[in-house]
Amino acid sequence: MINTKKDVLQREAHYAEGGSGAIGCVTVPDYLEKTYWWAYTHPNAVRVFERQWLVNSILWGNYRRLRNAALNAFGDTIKGRTLQMACVYGDLTENLLGRHHPAARLDVIDVAPEQIKNLRKKTAGLGPLGIHQQNAAHLQFEAATFDQVLMFFLLHEMPQAVRRQALAEAWRVLKPGGKLVLMDYHRPRASNPLRYVMAGVLRLLEPYALDLWHNDLAHWLPQEAKNKTLKKQLFFGDLYQLVVISR
Ligand SMILES: C[S@@+](CC[C@H](N)C(=O)[O-])C[C@H]1O[C@@H](n2cnc3c(N)ncnc32)[C@H](O)[C@@H]1O
Repeated sequence: MINTKKDVLQREAHYAEGGSGAIGCVTVPDYLEKTYWWAYTHPNAVRVFERQWLVNSILWGNYRRLRNAALNAFGDTIKGRTLQMACVYGDLTENLLGRHHPAARLDVIDVAPEQIKNLRKKTAGLGPLGIHQQNAAHLQFEAATFDQVLMFFLLHEMPQAVRRQALAEAWRVLKPGGKLVLMDYHRPRASNPLRYVMAGVLRLLEPYALDLWHNDLAHWLPQEAKNKTLKKQLFFGDLYQLVVISR
């Protein structure tokens, strides 16, 4: 999906004026609408889910620990340009901005207009911050634009082909020497008492997530990234993983 500069400018102006809804060429993908309408695109989704305690409960009380582990991978002070691929419920973006050097800049993309609107509301007055309606699988940024790219619990929500494409895009927009940080689900170890509960929950609500139990994230990375050293850290009986790759 190619977006012209005119499309991008039109969309930016639309949201700057407080508008919502999909405009231009960016539309909510079918897989997202069919699988996650209740969580992200329904008009009541934000009202229900935008609660720190609820997001923390969904992650079994680990939200803060996982958020901080992901941010620690970038360091205490984040310099240059950072891309957060997809909005999240909770305070990830605020904390990311909190670590930014005054001269640094954050850009956040999400494909769902409701999520873009919600992030604008949550981060009003914070910055420097760019918020864009874009599909992670078809980013509209030039190659080698960012020093850091973060995907926080995005990959498990994508069908395999989209996941592969989104990782290729993350890699493309990363500068040489830049850092890609991925936080997501992982296959729990056999002794984890939540293993069977989570298998059931994910099968029911998040059908693409179980792929991450059966393959390393490297499986969907572009070849050049696979050739790099991946640093992997597991959390909470291996239910969650942090993967860091330097380009
Ligand atoms: C990053 S995940 C985060 C899930 C996490 N459990 C939370 O609490 O928010 C959810 C976001 O990803 C977005 N998303 C899903 N597929 C996308 C895609 N292809 N491009 C951009 N955003 C996408 C959804 O619209 C949603 O806002």
